[in-house]
Amino acid sequence: MSRTLLIVKPDATKRKLIEYIINRLQAARFKIVEKKELQLNNSQARQFYAVHEGKHFLDSLVKFMCSGTIVPMILEKNNAVNDLRALIGATDPAKAERGTIRFDIAEDIEKNSVHASDSNANAKKEISFFFNK
Ligand code: CMP
Repeated sequence: MSRTLLIVKPDATKRKLIEYIINRLQAARFKIVEKKELQLNNSQARQFYAVHEGKHFLDSLVKFMCSGTIVPMILEKNNAVNDLRALIGATDPAKAERGTIRFDIAEDIEKNSVHASDSNANAKKEISFFFNK
């Protein structure tokens, strides 16, 4: 078993899609180990997305991530990082495969409804950012 972090982003919480996303995750056999609801402030969002420092989309991304409730959750499954990335699809919903969560609900490349860790090392860091684990 391995773990990864998923965040339901503000565009999805505003559209009341938390339960919908949880159902998709459970149907794909992810176990939700822990989850919480919170709103990030500017410095927390910058810290979380520090790997994107210098990118043209960072300021807008930080503002978006602070614009409403988010729901980070720890997910557990065999091959959790790769399987979750496959389930959510490409960052840009216009490029996401049919049947992926982002294909089905994301609004655009920024308001793309969910975030998932991109490696086991980042999953560890991102889980400890939100949880005492
Ligand atoms: P996420 O998987 O959370 O990782 C970084 C986020 O930046 C991404 O999803 C999008 O919400 C946002 N973003 C906005 N524009 C871009 C872009 N051109 N490339 C990558 N990510 C972008």
